[in-house]
Amino acid sequence: MRDFIAGLPKAELHLHIEGTLEPELKFELAARNGLELPYASVEQMRAAYTFDSLPSFLEIYYEGMRVLRTEPDFYDLAMAYLTKAAEQNVRYAEIFFDPQAHTSRGVPFDVVIRGLRRALLDADTRLGVRAQLIMCFLRDFQAEYAMATLLESLPYKEWIAGVGLDSDEKGNPPRKFAVVYERARQEGYLLTMHCDIDQDDTVEHIRQAIEEIGVDRIDHGVNVIADLRLVEAVLERGLGLTCCPISNGHVSDGMKAEDIRKLMDLGVRVTVNSDDPAYFSGYVQENLEALQGALRLTRDELADLERNAFEIAWLPRHLKDAYL
Ligand code: HPA
Ligand code: ZN
Repeated sequence: MRDFIAGLPKAELHLHIEGTLEPELKFELAARNGLELPYASVEQMRAAYTFDSLPSFLEIYYEGMRVLRTEPDFYDLAMAYLTKAAEQNVRYAEIFFDPQAHTSRGVPFDVVIRGLRRALLDADTRLGVRAQLIMCFLRDFQAEYAMATLLESLPYKEWIAGVGLDSDEKGNPPRKFAVVYERARQEGYLLTMHCDIDQDDTVEHIRQAIEEIGVDRIDHGVNVIADLRLVEAVLERGLGLTCCPISNGHVSDGMKAEDIRKLMDLGVRVTVNSDDPAYFSGYVQENLEALQGALRLTRDELADLERNAFEIAWLPRHLKDAYL
């Protein structure tokens, strides 16, 4: 099965580029930028990656990305991920980035996006991996800061496929960003947002995302299974879910494989993705293997998962068809 999965052409739709920062590159960037790290070695750093909730993960995630300072840093980060993706036969990736995690510590927006963009162009020509960017707002910051970030992104609109919403969900419902999302839609951005696993009010957040925001996709969203009326809405609108099995195990009580199975059986367009692979120890290959192991997925079912991913990808029809 491992070889079958390895051979499948894949699309990755839920991947935080800052969550691909492996300890080795973190040390390299720290040295380049003259920064001290609170770990003596790669092994020690990896050993400190212990989290059992979304907030405990986010603390380490934001701490880690402080080494990213310059345009070449962002280029190297994205190029490292895209090289790994190419090795795993990922043909297409939609990549989240968190501009506010950088602008809030003094790194200019254009430094971030120019570095990432240059890597995407090089990966297309050198590695044969196509990729697009999705700009995420940090939901634990004020909506006004998200709006300012949206406005700052407009000169780079052609480089950004859509917007997302991530970070700590507690007390930060989709509704908080209704005005920002409305403006993003007017500007031509496609819309997605995280409704993370087992967070407070996450089912209500899924409802708001669908009914009040009108998202084009939901990131995670597995808790929708608790409300069959909402599952109906997901089916009716053809919304895809970008699930991340290994990540689920780090922020909740398990991979949620059985819930994912139920959603697949109901006909929901479920996809398998890696979220923050440097922190959760698993890129898309390992996530597919983990879900296959838990559910005994057949080859046809694995192929269906990747078909779903290309189907819900934010690509024009003729490009999707070229992958399918
Ligand atoms: N959930 C919410 N915010 C995030 C995540 C996640 O899994 N990864 C990076 N930011
Ligand atoms: Zn995520």
